[in-house]
Amino acid sequence: MKAVIATSSGDPAIADAPEPSPAPGQVRVDVEAAGVGYVDVMALRGEYPAFTGAGAVPGVEAVGQVTAVGQDVSEGLVGQRVLALLPGFGAFAETAVADAELVFPVPLGAQAADVVAIGVNALVAELALHRVGAAVGERVLVRGAGGGIGMLATQIARARGAEVTAVTSSAARGERLRALGASHIVDRTKASTLPGTAYDIVVDTVAGPELGKHLELLRPNGRYVICGAAGGLPDTESFAPLLRNFHTSPSLYAFSLNSVAPEDMQGSWKRVMALLDEGRVSAVVDRGFALAEAEDALRRVAAGKAFGKVVLLPR
Ligand SMILES: NC(=O)c1ccc[n+]([C@@H]2O[C@H](COP(=O)([O-])OP(=O)(O)OC[C@H]3O[C@@H](n4cnc5c(N)ncnc54)[C@H](OP(=O)(O)O)[C@@H]3O)[C@@H](O)[C@H]2O)c1
Repeated sequence: MKAVIATSSGDPAIADAPEPSPAPGQVRVDVEAAGVGYVDVMALRGEYPAFTGAGAVPGVEAVGQVTAVGQDVSEGLVGQRVLALLPGFGAFAETAVADAELVFPVPLGAQAADVVAIGVNALVAELALHRVGAAVGERVLVRGAGGGIGMLATQIARARGAEVTAVTSSAARGERLRALGASHIVDRTKASTLPGTAYDIVVDTVAGPELGKHLELLRPNGRYVICGAAGGLPDTESFAPLLRNFHTSPSLYAFSLNSVAPEDMQGSWKRVMALLDEGRVSAVVDRGFALAEAEDALRRVAAGKAFGKVVLLPR
């Protein structure tokens, strides 16, 4: 099979590789679409511990059909279309293997690129909003709304009946987020604070030096969920508003999908697929690339130019 592998210089290259066999507890998937993310850029730069370097295949999520199962996995999975999460990488290939507990059913008629565009980002966004209990009529601020997790958080918060304010870096991105359900747009290049407005929930995929200012924006009983740090790790002083505003009972959550039990991810995926089916969540695909164009796809992600998911289409 064809696969994208890391070379010793860290550049990706297309190569012939042996087709992987599912180990006990795993399934083999014929990959129709694989999501390209910043995690792959970091992996190829040697900045991601789970990636083993030269010869390894990047890619942490794929959509395709199950063609074989390993020991202890139900034969009933063969023939099903799934989203597969691969925390140990391997999705940039014609065929991949994944743990059976990390594959999620995909509707038969759905476009593979659309489903992978929703993929892991939707699970992070949905479970983060679930954890903080986003409710009808609440005001939700999304930092990093132009990013993969942020645009799903924008849509899912809206679908839960919240009023969403999206923080992004340009008017053009703002218009697209408005179409996805944001009621208010804040251009982060023009306003570093958001005076006069308070939020029940802040979903933060950016963190960084401005986290403290955003913690100050919580209403009484507000919930702040950090689910990424695209802007870097904040210093401890950033968290001072939590104690300073003790009388308003603020809550801070740090949320990572890594800590979520597979059955809870399955529950979340069902809720996301229901929203997709009802048209309350849409997939945003930036661009599709052939497997041989993986380098261009990774460059686009690294440059931060994409709006929506960059997708590899191996077949
Ligand atoms: N919690 C989890 O389980 C989990 C899972 C996967 C990834 N993550 C993490 O979540 C974070 C976001 O992931 P993603 O896939 O959504 O990333 P992404 O697609 O790169 O989006 C991040 C967005 O944040 C904005 N941004 C970037 N740098 C910024 C800065 N310095 N200040 C303010 N805004 C900035 C940009 O949007 P605009 O230019 O439009 O503002 C960018 O599109 C990453 O740190 C990632 O590692 C967490």
